[in-house]
Amino acid sequence: MSSSALGADSALPAHVGIIMDGNGRWARARGKNRLGGHKQGAEVARNVVRWAKELGIRQISLYAFSTENWERPKLEVRGLMSLLAILLPKTLPEMMQNEVRFRILGDLSPLPDSARKAVDLACKNTENNTGIDLILCLNYGGQQEIVAAVRQTLQWLQSQPDQQQSLSDLNPEQFRKLMWRHDMAPVDLLIRTGGEMRISNFHLWDAAYAELYFSDVFWPDFSQQDLQLALDEYARRERRYGLTSEQVEA
Ligand code: IPE
Ligand code: IPE
Ligand code: MG
Repeated sequence: MSSSALGADSALPAHVGIIMDGNGRWARARGKNRLGGHKQGAEVARNVVRWAKELGIRQISLYAFSTENWERPKLEVRGLMSLLAILLPKTLPEMMQNEVRFRILGDLSPLPDSARKAVDLACKNTENNTGIDLILCLNYGGQQEIVAAVRQTLQWLQSQPDQQQSLSDLNPEQFRKLMWRHDMAPVDLLIRTGGEMRISNFHLWDAAYAELYFSDVFWPDFSQQDLQLALDEYARRERRYGLTSEQVEA
């Protein structure tokens, strides 16, 4: 089915997740240090939220720091954390203007105080905005999210009158309600920039039926046109969820 046949809105993903990869290689190609790449990447992240909002996308999640990224050189980790602490408060007026609701996916507890404070402030100040949800995935790991949901499940089971029965009735839909993402729309379109063809522990649960899109462009070079290319490709896809094409068309 063509995108024009679908109409603009049904062809638009409700939730776009982006693995913003390629900052380091972008910097190296310009003789800059890696942090220079992250700085430019942060600028693009700001822009992408605005573009997404203008297009009518409801939720955008940006992979900013994975649970595995702690193992990077200390200087880079520290640089990324201070970037967050400095840039988030600076971006707040713009988020208010664009009606961005800022949220977090991930475990904030190991973050330095300054970064955590900046995050809390942005969450609090923007909580009533309704323009677009910006979900920053920070110290996020898809496997960690699933393990956390298993812990939640065990707690939930305690409250059930017939635990055996509740456990055998547990299905993926119910399980998702116990995940950090319980109140987020499923990821429709998962974009990775930077040329690698892997998920790197992002949105594992929703990746089950998200449409995947890989771009060779390094994140700091990602443009409005690159976003549009991904959305055009998404609009051409047929999401079958295991059914046949004929069934989907009917
Ligand atoms: C992604 O860019 C940003 C973070 C992981 C924080 P990279 O830093 O992974 O860039 P490359 O992959 O080394 O080019
Ligand atoms: C994924 O990129 C994490 C973020 C973009 C924040 P990485 O650069 O860390 O992933 P790998 O190491 O190439 O799998
Ligand atoms: Mg990378």
